[in-house]
Amino acid sequence: MTKARPFLVAMDGPAGGGKGTVAVALAQRFGFVYFESGTFFRVLAWRALDLGVTAQEEARLEEIITSPWFREKWHTFARPALREERIGLFASEIARHAFIRTAFISFQRQEVLKETAAGVILEGRDTGSAVFPDADCKIFLTADPHVRARRRFEELREKNPDVVYETVFQDLSKRDANDKERSIGALQIDNTYQLLDTSTLSISEVVNTAERLVQERYNAYLAEKKRGR
Ligand code: DC
Repeated sequence: MTKARPFLVAMDGPAGGGKGTVAVALAQRFGFVYFESGTFFRVLAWRALDLGVTAQEEARLEEIITSPWFREKWHTFARPALREERIGLFASEIARHAFIRTAFISFQRQEVLKETAAGVILEGRDTGSAVFPDADCKIFLTADPHVRARRRFEELREKNPDVVYETVFQDLSKRDANDKERSIGALQIDNTYQLLDTSTLSISEVVNTAERLVQERYNAYLAEKKRGR
């Protein structure tokens, strides 16, 4: 039987591994839609910080998630501040709460299942393990922590010449620990993923390699669809 949902690529991995850049490039090449799942956590983090809510105040965090403002706006809310390191770090702290992960999974599934494009690229931490374990193609993109911190440092330095490498490295290490060590929805790789280590690769090498991985699975998916399964 034909699948009800679009062809799904799950691209997971730690902060600074280049997932966003690769996912955007792949979405363009294949004409797929790109979903950045971190947005859910970043918008929630932004709203919580704005209201003075701490990572421990579960009831107040739940109030935000269930509010009409969040339900209606989280996927379209855009503000440069969302990209700030303090938001990313706070997002990784609140992402450990079970009720937040449950809401995230159901919101994310709804968004993807509504999608009419031929394919969707979903980028995050557990999109191929918890959100869509049956994704058609799963890629785990990573790199040495120093390489990731260096890339993040260069990116931040364009906006702020005073940024200090050590601070960037420490923030990234803290986020790695938060993302890997939480008891549910932790960043983890298993043998359903294809590992892509980008430590020694240029962006175009990474995009070309990822494109080959996706193309292979997409061809198989289309062939299966043609056979009417
Ligand atoms: O991908 P990002 O840097 O925008 O994500 C910010 C934080 O959100 C990340 O450190 C942890 C959390 N997150 C998550 O827990 N699960 C996801 N699928 C995506 C992001």
